[in-house]
Amino acid sequence: MKIVENIAQIIYDSLSQGMTIEEITSLIEKPKNLENGDYAFPVFKIAKHVKRNPNEIATELAFRIDLTKFDKIEAKGPYVNFYLKKDRIASQLITEINNSSRYGFNEVGRDKTILIDLSSPNIAKPMSMGHLRSTVIGNAIANLATANGYKTVKINHLGDWGTQFGLMIAAYKKWGNNKSIENYSIDELVKLYVDINNAAKENPKIAEEGRAWFKKLEENDDEAISLWTIIRKQSLIEFFEIYDRLGISFDSTNGEAFYNDKMQNIVTLLENKKLLTKSQGAEIVDLPKLLPDSNLPIAMIKRSDGATLYITRDLAAAVYRKHEYEFDKAFYVVGAEQKTHFLQLKAILKLADFDWSDDIEHISFGLITLGGSKMSSRKGNTIALVDVLNTAHNLALQQINIKNPDLLNANDIAEEVGVGAVIFNDLMNDRKLSIDFNLDDIVRFEGDTGPYVQYTNARIHSILKKSTGYQKNDNNVLNDDKTWPIISKMLDFPNVIKKAFDQRDPSQIAKYILQLSREFNSYYANTKILVEDENLNARLGLITSVSKIIETSLKLLGIKAPNEM
Ligand code: ARG
Repeated sequence: MKIVENIAQIIYDSLSQGMTIEEITSLIEKPKNLENGDYAFPVFKIAKHVKRNPNEIATELAFRIDLTKFDKIEAKGPYVNFYLKKDRIASQLITEINNSSRYGFNEVGRDKTILIDLSSPNIAKPMSMGHLRSTVIGNAIANLATANGYKTVKINHLGDWGTQFGLMIAAYKKWGNNKSIENYSIDELVKLYVDINNAAKENPKIAEEGRAWFKKLEENDDEAISLWTIIRKQSLIEFFEIYDRLGISFDSTNGEAFYNDKMQNIVTLLENKKLLTKSQGAEIVDLPKLLPDSNLPIAMIKRSDGATLYITRDLAAAVYRKHEYEFDKAFYVVGAEQKTHFLQLKAILKLADFDWSDDIEHISFGLITLGGSKMSSRKGNTIALVDVLNTAHNLALQQINIKNPDLLNANDIAEEVGVGAVIFNDLMNDRKLSIDFNLDDIVRFEGDTGPYVQYTNARIHSILKKSTGYQKNDNNVLNDDKTWPIISKMLDFPNVIKKAFDQRDPSQIAKYILQLSREFNSYYANTKILVEDENLNARLGLITSVSKIIETSLKLLGIKAPNEM
């Protein structure tokens, strides 16, 4: 049901000012309080345009709109409020939701491809909380893109190349004794990395050795490549244990190393376009000089020893991906601390006349902390992601054991609940905010949590299990005041899916299902669902559709929806 579009059309037909349907659609709001209608249209913009009092405009507009399609239309201050015809809408909507697996989805992105660069942890290091954020935000945005009809390509741009791997190999050659590199755990590799970094600070000769090994890597030296290959493989095994638990997959795990043989082209191109300058032996793009207003710093493209850099690989990757996938948009889901990097990347591509650089979007996010302590992989105070997931799992299991001690597969369900809680917590806040969280709070079955939403859905399943089941296509006559808040919320789902994608903001979905769950739970507290009366089937239809929407939403966020918990 395309309610908002229909209302927009009706407003459009009644307006003489030149506003497009799209503009009108984007202005339509859902009032917080149903007393102000199911939808509202603010007239500030029109009033400003024609330089008149908004309240007058609203009154005139409300008067002009065709009433037959609505229960009531009312001007309230600068708003026109629309009240829908409850009984008709309720029955249509419930039938629609229960008959389709795509309720709420649209085809806006048909034939368009969105590339999503996400997760992208660095090998030989544990995956950080920042990478977890990139993974779950990126995955949710990819799901939202699909729900809006786009084709998506998810790329895990592994940090598997760079001078640090030269240092790493130098450390192994120095201190590895005879222990084969296969037998190093990530923790041991990290220790090797930390130790050699400290040593290199004291002794420039060691830093030199590291650079020499990276040079060998870039030149495809057999020994260097074989050590690097093993380190990479070990890391991927650990990363994929986490991805499997999160239920996340990628279309490509070509990381930075993949571009080793693809960088020379872009360097040559920059040279031909006269964008490269030599500075103390290094090759740079002098952005302060080329784009004085941009305030961007110099971008180093090649070090004086010829080694390439992070941005060199990103330049090559962007060009390669445009070619390979012909994307319409390329999203980079990466922490806000890399803002300058992506501005430089876009600026250099633009200077090189790649117009599509405008289609690159850095989807940034804030810092995540656990109980106040910053989780950084360079310092000693890291909290491994696996520990976070394990603790969440155990907390979920404890609650299940109390609430539902006879539950079969309690351990599997605890995993879905614990991991879901971590994902939900990550997604429910505006991504740009930094969030501090405490595992006890986020795994609770009550409050603004993932488990609360999952629990609501499991509750609906348990009610349905006790019933004879909903008979489809029945006339669902529910026009009472207790039901309407739920209907009105469900009516808004298509709109939420669209907005959440347009604003690259999965938190809108999370907030939406929290609200829908609350609406359902207050309905459930006041209504006997399973009593045998003429509306029994209609009520079963209603709660079935609530469950479907919760399940679709959780799936969009990348969270499982157990039937029992
Ligand atoms: N590996 C990088 C890091 O951990 C993130 C890579 C993001 N993607 C990219 N194309 N630069 O900081």
